[in-house]
Amino acid sequence: METNKRIPVIWLQLMDCTGCSESFIRSSHPRTENVLFDMISLEYHELLSAAAGHQIEENRERIMEQYKGEYILVVEGNVTDDEFLTVAGHSALESLKETAKHAKAVLAYGSCSAFGGLAAAKPNPTNAKAVSDVVRGVPIINVPGCPPIAEVMTGVIAHVITFGRLPELDRQGRPKAFYKLRIHDKCNRRAYFDAGLFVESFDDEGAKVGYCLYKVGCAGPTTYNACAEMRWNGGVSYPIQSGNPCIGCSEKNFWDEGPFFTR
Ligand code: SF4
Ligand code: SF4
Ligand code: F3S
Repeated sequence: METNKRIPVIWLQLMDCTGCSESFIRSSHPRTENVLFDMISLEYHELLSAAAGHQIEENRERIMEQYKGEYILVVEGNVTDDEFLTVAGHSALESLKETAKHAKAVLAYGSCSAFGGLAAAKPNPTNAKAVSDVVRGVPIINVPGCPPIAEVMTGVIAHVITFGRLPELDRQGRPKAFYKLRIHDKCNRRAYFDAGLFVESFDDEGAKVGYCLYKVGCAGPTTYNACAEMRWNGGVSYPIQSGNPCIGCSEKNFWDEGPFFTR
Protein backbone atom coordinates (compact mmCIF):
# COMPACT_ATOMS: atom_id res chain seq x y z
CA MET A 1 0.00 0.00 0.00
CA GLU A 2 1.08 3.57 -0.69
CA THR A 3 1.17 4.38 3.02
CA ASN A 4 3.78 1.72 3.65
CA LYS A 5 6.31 3.48 1.40
CA ARG A 6 6.29 6.55 3.59
CA ILE A 7 8.63 6.42 6.57
CA PRO A 8 6.77 6.57 9.88
CA VAL A 9 7.87 9.52 12.02
CA ILE A 10 7.30 10.03 15.73
CA TRP A 11 7.93 13.66 16.71
CA LEU A 12 8.44 14.25 20.44
CA GLN A 13 8.28 17.74 21.87
CA LEU A 14 10.27 17.91 25.09
CA MET A 15 11.13 21.22 26.76
CA ASP A 16 10.55 23.41 23.73
CA CYS A 17 8.86 26.55 22.52
CA THR A 18 7.33 24.92 19.37
CA GLY A 19 9.41 27.29 17.24
CA CYS A 20 11.05 24.37 15.46
CA SER A 21 7.65 22.97 14.47
CA GLU A 22 6.61 26.45 13.35
CA SER A 23 9.67 26.63 11.13
CA PHE A 24 9.15 23.12 9.72
CA ILE A 25 5.64 23.88 8.46
CA ARG A 26 6.97 26.77 6.37
CA SER A 27 9.28 24.82 4.08
CA SER A 28 9.00 25.83 0.43
CA HIS A 29 11.42 23.38 -1.24
CA PRO A 30 10.50 20.68 -0.62
CA ARG A 31 7.09 21.97 0.37
CA THR A 32 5.95 20.83 3.80
CA GLU A 33 2.81 19.24 2.38
CA ASN A 34 4.91 17.15 -0.02
CA VAL A 35 6.99 15.93 2.87
CA LEU A 36 3.90 15.12 4.92
CA PHE A 37 1.89 13.45 2.18
CA ASP A 38 4.58 11.86 -0.02
CA MET A 39 7.67 11.18 2.09
CA ILE A 40 6.75 10.55 5.70
CA SER A 41 3.80 9.38 7.69
CA LEU A 42 3.65 11.69 10.71
CA GLU A 43 2.28 9.40 13.38
CA TYR A 44 2.75 11.47 16.51
CA HIS A 45 3.01 15.23 16.85
CA GLU A 46 1.52 17.37 19.63
CA LEU A 47 0.81 20.26 17.27
CA LEU A 48 -0.05 18.62 13.95
CA SER A 49 -1.69 15.30 14.80
CA ALA A 50 -5.48 15.20 14.72
CA ALA A 51 -5.46 12.58 17.46
CA ALA A 52 -4.71 13.42 21.10
CA GLY A 53 -4.65 11.88 24.56
CA HIS A 54 -4.83 8.09 24.91
CA GLN A 55 -5.45 7.65 21.18
CA ILE A 56 -2.17 9.22 20.12
CA GLU A 57 -0.18 7.57 22.90
CA GLU A 58 -1.50 4.19 21.74
CA ASN A 59 -0.48 5.07 18.22
CA ARG A 60 3.07 5.84 19.36
CA GLU A 61 3.27 2.42 20.96
CA ARG A 62 1.80 0.75 17.87
CA ILE A 63 4.33 2.38 15.55
CA MET A 64 7.23 1.45 17.83
CA GLU A 65 6.12 -2.18 17.73
CA GLN A 66 5.05 -2.45 14.10
CA TYR A 67 7.97 -0.51 12.60
CA LYS A 68 10.80 -1.52 14.91
CA GLY A 69 14.07 -0.25 13.47
CA GLU A 70 12.28 1.53 10.61
CA TYR A 71 10.68 4.67 12.03
CA ILE A 72 12.44 8.00 12.47
CA LEU A 73 12.28 9.78 15.81
CA VAL A 74 12.30 13.57 15.66
CA VAL A 75 13.04 15.38 18.91
CA GLU A 76 12.26 19.06 19.42
CA GLY A 77 13.30 20.65 22.71
CA ASN A 78 15.84 19.57 25.27
CA VAL A 79 15.96 16.89 27.92
CA THR A 80 15.42 17.88 31.54
CA ASP A 81 15.69 16.05 34.82
CA ASP A 82 12.70 13.81 35.41
CA GLU A 83 10.69 16.01 37.75
CA PHE A 84 10.49 18.93 35.33
CA LEU A 85 8.67 17.40 32.38
CA THR A 86 6.01 14.76 31.95
CA VAL A 87 4.08 14.03 28.77
CA ALA A 88 0.78 12.15 28.95
CA GLY A 89 1.51 11.39 32.59
CA HIS A 90 4.83 9.73 31.84
CA SER A 91 8.36 10.92 32.40
CA ALA A 92 9.43 12.65 29.17
CA LEU A 93 12.95 11.33 29.69
CA GLU A 94 11.70 7.76 29.84
CA SER A 95 9.44 8.30 26.80
CA LEU A 96 12.44 9.60 24.89
CA LYS A 97 14.63 6.64 25.78
CA GLU A 98 11.82 4.19 25.04
CA THR A 99 10.99 5.75 21.66
CA ALA A 100 14.63 6.13 20.63
CA LYS A 101 15.52 2.53 21.42
CA HIS A 102 14.12 1.02 18.21
CA ALA A 103 14.29 4.06 15.92
CA LYS A 104 16.21 3.90 12.65
CA ALA A 105 17.65 7.32 13.49
CA VAL A 106 17.01 10.31 15.71
CA LEU A 107 16.71 13.77 14.19
CA ALA A 108 17.53 16.35 16.86
CA TYR A 109 15.79 19.42 15.44
CA GLY A 110 16.85 22.75 16.90
CA SER A 111 19.63 23.91 19.19
CA CYS A 112 17.65 22.73 22.23
CA SER A 113 17.69 19.08 21.27
CA ALA A 114 21.07 19.23 19.52
CA PHE A 115 22.99 21.13 22.22
CA GLY A 116 20.74 21.98 25.19
CA GLY A 117 19.50 25.36 23.98
CA LEU A 118 18.18 28.44 25.73
CA ALA A 119 16.77 26.56 28.72
CA ALA A 120 20.28 25.30 29.46
CA ALA A 121 21.50 28.87 30.07
CA LYS A 122 23.27 29.34 33.39
CA PRO A 123 22.31 28.45 36.07
CA ASN A 124 20.32 25.80 34.13
CA PRO A 125 17.85 25.01 36.93
CA THR A 126 16.23 22.05 35.13
CA ASN A 127 19.57 20.48 34.12
CA ALA A 128 18.59 20.82 30.47
CA LYS A 129 20.79 18.91 28.08
CA ALA A 130 21.09 17.57 24.54
CA VAL A 131 19.44 14.41 23.25
CA SER A 132 22.90 12.96 22.61
CA ASP A 133 23.61 13.22 26.35
CA VAL A 134 20.99 10.57 27.14
CA VAL A 135 20.36 8.55 23.97
CA ARG A 136 22.92 5.89 23.03
CA GLY A 137 23.16 3.22 20.35
CA VAL A 138 21.07 5.00 17.68
CA PRO A 139 22.42 7.34 14.98
CA ILE A 140 21.67 10.96 15.92
CA ILE A 141 21.60 13.77 13.37
CA ASN A 142 21.92 17.21 14.93
CA VAL A 143 20.09 19.96 13.04
CA PRO A 144 20.80 23.03 15.17
CA GLY A 145 19.39 26.53 14.88
CA CYS A 146 16.88 28.36 17.01
CA PRO A 147 14.93 27.35 15.07
CA PRO A 148 16.64 25.61 12.13
CA ILE A 149 15.89 26.81 8.59
CA ALA A 150 12.72 25.11 7.33
CA GLU A 151 14.34 23.83 4.15
CA VAL A 152 17.24 22.39 6.13
CA MET A 153 14.80 20.46 8.31
CA THR A 154 12.87 19.02 5.38
CA GLY A 155 16.04 18.63 3.31
CA VAL A 156 17.54 16.27 5.86
CA ILE A 157 14.42 14.08 5.81
CA ALA A 158 14.34 14.20 2.00
CA HIS A 159 17.95 12.98 1.95
CA VAL A 160 17.19 10.00 4.17
CA ILE A 161 14.15 9.06 2.04
CA THR A 162 15.82 9.62 -1.33
CA PHE A 163 19.13 7.89 -0.65
CA GLY A 164 17.97 5.43 2.00
CA ARG A 165 20.86 6.38 4.27
CA LEU A 166 21.90 9.10 6.67
CA PRO A 167 23.67 12.21 5.36
CA GLU A 168 27.38 12.75 5.96
CA LEU A 169 27.88 14.41 9.33
CA ASP A 170 30.57 16.65 10.80
CA ARG A 171 32.23 16.24 14.21
CA GLN A 172 29.23 17.80 15.95
CA GLY A 173 26.81 15.41 14.25
CA ARG A 174 25.50 18.05 11.80
CA PRO A 175 24.82 17.31 8.10
CA LYS A 176 27.81 18.71 6.22
CA ALA A 177 25.62 19.71 3.29
CA PHE A 178 24.03 22.46 5.37
CA TYR A 179 26.60 23.28 8.05
CA LYS A 180 29.96 23.24 6.27
CA LEU A 181 30.27 27.03 5.85
CA ARG A 182 30.23 29.94 8.26
CA ILE A 183 27.64 32.68 7.84
CA HIS A 184 30.61 35.01 7.28
CA ASP A 185 31.74 33.01 4.22
CA LYS A 186 28.63 33.86 2.19
CA CYS A 187 27.41 37.00 3.97
CA ASN A 188 25.90 39.73 1.80
CA ARG A 189 27.84 42.32 3.89
CA ARG A 190 31.20 40.58 3.55
CA ALA A 191 32.63 43.13 1.10
CA TYR A 192 32.22 45.80 3.79
CA PHE A 193 34.03 43.62 6.32
CA ASP A 194 36.93 43.18 3.91
CA ALA A 195 36.99 46.91 3.24
CA GLY A 196 36.98 47.73 6.96
CA LEU A 197 33.60 49.47 6.83
CA PHE A 198 31.63 48.75 10.01
CA VAL A 199 28.41 49.74 11.73
CA GLU A 200 29.51 51.35 15.01
CA SER A 201 26.01 51.80 16.46
CA PHE A 202 22.58 50.78 15.24
CA ASP A 203 21.55 54.35 14.42
CA ASP A 204 24.64 55.52 12.52
CA GLU A 205 25.11 56.20 8.82
CA GLY A 206 26.91 52.85 8.32
CA ALA A 207 23.81 51.01 9.57
CA LYS A 208 21.67 52.88 7.05
CA VAL A 209 23.82 51.86 4.10
CA GLY A 210 24.32 48.25 5.25
CA TYR A 211 27.94 48.09 6.49
CA CYS A 212 29.30 45.01 8.29
CA LEU A 213 27.79 44.29 11.72
CA TYR A 214 30.91 42.81 13.33
CA LYS A 215 31.46 45.70 15.75
CA VAL A 216 27.87 45.50 17.01
CA GLY A 217 28.23 41.86 17.96
CA CYS A 218 27.84 39.77 14.79
CA ALA A 219 28.78 36.13 15.43
CA GLY A 220 28.80 35.25 11.71
CA PRO A 221 32.59 34.60 11.65
CA THR A 222 32.20 31.73 14.14
CA THR A 223 28.75 30.39 13.21
CA TYR A 224 28.18 27.41 10.91
CA ASN A 225 24.76 27.51 9.26
CA ALA A 226 23.21 27.97 5.81
CA CYS A 227 21.34 31.24 6.44
CA ALA A 228 23.48 33.36 4.10
CA GLU A 229 23.18 30.84 1.26
CA MET A 230 19.59 29.62 1.60
CA ARG A 231 18.03 32.52 3.57
CA TRP A 232 14.69 32.31 5.33
CA ASN A 233 11.04 32.40 4.31
CA GLY A 234 11.68 30.70 0.99
CA GLY A 235 14.94 32.55 0.30
CA VAL A 236 13.73 36.08 1.10
CA SER A 237 16.12 37.28 3.79
CA TYR A 238 18.02 36.37 6.98
CA PRO A 239 18.93 38.25 10.17
CA ILE A 240 22.02 40.03 8.83
CA GLN A 241 20.31 41.11 5.62
CA SER A 242 17.53 42.54 7.78
CA GLY A 243 20.00 44.57 9.86
CA ASN A 244 20.40 42.27 12.85
CA PRO A 245 23.76 40.76 13.79
CA CYS A 246 23.92 36.96 13.78
CA ILE A 247 23.69 35.75 17.40
CA GLY A 248 25.12 32.34 16.51
CA CYS A 249 21.86 30.54 17.21
CA SER A 250 23.10 27.28 15.68
CA GLU A 251 26.24 27.08 17.82
CA LYS A 252 26.80 25.33 21.13
CA ASN A 253 26.47 27.65 24.13
CA PHE A 254 25.30 30.70 22.18
CA TRP A 255 22.89 31.27 25.07
CA ASP A 256 25.72 31.82 27.55
CA GLU A 257 28.18 33.62 25.34
CA GLY A 258 26.27 36.89 25.11
CA PRO A 259 25.09 39.44 25.85
CA PHE A 260 24.15 39.06 22.23
CA PHE A 261 25.00 42.53 20.96
CA THR A 262 28.13 43.35 22.94
CA ARG A 263 30.32 40.29 22.59
FE1 SF4 B 1 12.32 26.87 20.44
FE2 SF4 B 1 14.79 27.45 19.63
FE3 SF4 B 1 14.41 25.37 21.18
FE4 SF4 B 1 13.51 25.26 18.67
S1 SF4 B 1 15.67 25.40 19.31
S2 SF4 B 1 12.38 24.62 20.51
S3 SF4 B 1 12.95 27.42 18.34
S4 SF4 B 1 14.03 27.53 21.77
FE1 SF4 C 1 30.83 38.66 8.76
FE2 SF4 C 1 28.77 39.43 10.28
FE3 SF4 C 1 30.13 41.22 8.88
FE4 SF4 C 1 28.53 39.47 7.65
S1 SF4 C 1 27.89 41.11 9.05
S2 SF4 C 1 30.60 40.08 7.02
S3 SF4 C 1 28.87 37.66 8.93
S4 SF4 C 1 30.93 39.95 10.58
FE1 F3S D 1 20.78 32.09 13.60
FE2 F3S D 1 22.78 33.60 12.76
FE3 F3S D 1 21.25 32.34 11.04
S1 F3S D 1 21.36 34.04 14.43
S2 F3S D 1 19.26 32.38 12.01
S3 F3S D 1 22.61 31.40 12.54
S4 F3S D 1 22.16 34.36 10.77
